[in-house]
Amino acid sequence: MALLERSEWYDIARRTEWTPGYVSDDELYPEGHSGDYDIPGEAWSTYDEPYKISYREYVDIQRQKDAGAYSVKAALERMDLRSKVDPGWISTLKLHYGAVSVVEYNAGLMESRFVRWARSPGMRNMGTFGMLDEIRHAQLQLFFPHEYVPTDRQFDWAHSGMKSNNWGIIAGRHFFDDMMMTRDAVSTSILLNFAFETGFTNLQFIGLSSDAANAGDFSFSKLIQSIQSDEARHAQIGTPMLAMMIENGEKERAQRLVDVAFWRSWKLFTILTGIPMDYYIPLDKREGSFKEFMQEWIVTQFVNSLEDLGLAKPWYWDIFLADIDEHHHGQQLGTWSWRPTLWFSPAAGVGPDERDWLEEKYPGWNDTFGKCWDAIIENLKRGDIGRTVPGTLPIICNMSNIPIRRTTRWSTTGGSTTSARSPIAGSSSRTRSATPPTKRSLIACSPARSSPPTSAVCCSTWASACSATAVATPTTTSGCPPTSRVPTRRRRTDRWQHSHSR
Ligand SMILES: [Fe+2]
Ligand SMILES: [Fe+2]
Repeated sequence: MALLERSEWYDIARRTEWTPGYVSDDELYPEGHSGDYDIPGEAWSTYDEPYKISYREYVDIQRQKDAGAYSVKAALERMDLRSKVDPGWISTLKLHYGAVSVVEYNAGLMESRFVRWARSPGMRNMGTFGMLDEIRHAQLQLFFPHEYVPTDRQFDWAHSGMKSNNWGIIAGRHFFDDMMMTRDAVSTSILLNFAFETGFTNLQFIGLSSDAANAGDFSFSKLIQSIQSDEARHAQIGTPMLAMMIENGEKERAQRLVDVAFWRSWKLFTILTGIPMDYYIPLDKREGSFKEFMQEWIVTQFVNSLEDLGLAKPWYWDIFLADIDEHHHGQQLGTWSWRPTLWFSPAAGVGPDERDWLEEKYPGWNDTFGKCWDAIIENLKRGDIGRTVPGTLPIICNMSNIPIRRTTRWSTTGGSTTSARSPIAGSSSRTRSATPPTKRSLIACSPARSSPPTSAVCCSTWASACSATAVATPTTTSGCPPTSRVPTRRRRTDRWQHSHSR
């Protein structure tokens, strides 16, 4: 008997739209779970997923992917990779596993909510495959680091990290709870699938995959490729939903969801991807800078997909573009300085060759961020480790839960605020600008906005790392720009002042 082509039966098979007989539509799809957005009943069936696959095809492909990833791991297990690769690469692995592995299980829960609550049959179908994808991702990313646990307990954070109250983990958990676990199906598909997965997971998975291969970690490279091919499929769940919202007069709310998710994702990825790409990956193995990846994957590709849908760039786009140049450099200073609080040993990545590379990729780095590292290096050379570890906590953003920091470029004019206590004057091995950083450059945290400054902010990372050089006095100014629409409150200012009087 001749078999039908998939295209001949797919639409009928996945449209299991039964008419409920003993519950109302509202009971079947409560607004809090399903999302309504004033889309009329008949419009839900117009959802047309761009990626169509049958269950039989799905299982066959996934089996092959699993076989590929697990067999590469088995073949390379005896290489004792952990003791052979650069420590910076090990930092990358630990950061990734601790922040990502268990989140994949949560993503499976998210997809399962689509399976039950999504009003579009096509979305429920995509959600079913997405749920199986995410369970597979969690299993892979718990199994792969497990081989390292007997010799390095920090790899155990792949499993235990998300259950801890580590500050970095709290930031990640807050993000994923907000974007993926606590909203209705419509909103989640835009926040997570469209903005986060289409926009940002590419950065983490494609970027890391090629870096892993370059670093000689072929089993991680294969693992990441295997996951990315699933992400590329279920990331498309949100796009038809966005198109439906726009068609049905909900463009403004769709734009707001994209704006919120994009900013939150950006902040998280400055640490998750930005730091490893520009500091942890061994210099001779780097594929490109974080900024270059951002420009290719976000500034070009993500904006194209927004414009294809008729949406605009987020309202804070200029602020974001400026942030690409610098935010993660400040977070690297912060995470390295607060290294005793992390579940991995962060690499500094600022040797002379690395600094030349950073200067080439981010012109002005040596005269800005490099000055903070000058102070740290000089303190280390003198054996004064205490001065390289902050004695207090950073000021944390109420929304993104990561240290607040932003700077304008160091000013090259104006008065000097270099502390008289500075132990490093004239002793750096690196060239410094003739004029030391000014106080203004440390505290100017936000581009000019029409509203008056209101909340305490910023530069905690910088100022602490630079405690041996320019000492910034906390001040009131505006915070992370897009949080200006979110209530913020002052935190820990007393501790801040204390830390800078040391
Ligand atoms: Fe995943
Ligand atoms: Fe995913």
